Amino acid sequence: MALLELQNITAGYDKNVILKDLDFQVEKGELVSLLGSSGCGKTTTLRLIAGFSSPMSGKFIFNGKDYTKVPLDKRNFGFVFQSYALFPHMTVFDNVAFGLKMRKLPKEQIKKEVMDMLETVDLLGFENRFPKEGGSGQGPGDQAGPASSGRASQQSGRQAADQDAC
Ligand SMILES: Nc1ncnc2c1ncn2[C@@H]1O[C@H](COP(=O)(O)OP(=O)(O)O)[C@@H](O)[C@H]1O
Ligand SMILES: [Mg+2]
Repeated sequence: MALLELQNITAGYDKNVILKDLDFQVEKGELVSLLGSSGCGKTTTLRLIAGFSSPMSGKFIFNGKDYTKVPLDKRNFGFVFQSYALFPHMTVFDNVAFGLKMRKLPKEQIKKEVMDMLETVDLLGFENRFPKEGGSGQGPGDQAGPASSGRASQQSGRQAADQDAC
């Protein structure tokens, strides 16, 4: 059984249909990129997965459960937008820690997960800098995934990515 499945999704904005009968499956452990010309519906697809919008018809199944009508805050998916969604007044550490703090994880666990994540993306040593102090190329592209740090995302096994990623 696929981990994530879009079944006959038709979706768009108002009455304007952007996705028509979209079907795809993602197996556990697969890393999937949506490629296509600008305006073809990549972000629209990721927004559906994360729960920012609902399809006109079709189903979104995750781990065997029908998530089509599950609200965003109950999905435990996150979304990293194409334009940086960093808090400019917070350090790199606090930006990465934000989702974990919202989940009220223990302080020590937050510290460990944040430092593990910064190591993974080669940003150890930058944790006390602010976003505007980063060098070139030290920002995220668009990504949507589980609503937490990247480390927690990996642990939960949920990750969808576009130049926005889910
Ligand atoms: N909020 C919106 N309201 C109305 N139309 C939108 C909205 N967002 C995107 N669209 C339209 O939906 C289509 C698909 O957009 P999008 O999913 O952002 O494409 P992509 O990410 O593949 O570049 C485009 O024609 C775009 O103009
Ligand atoms: Mg897009």
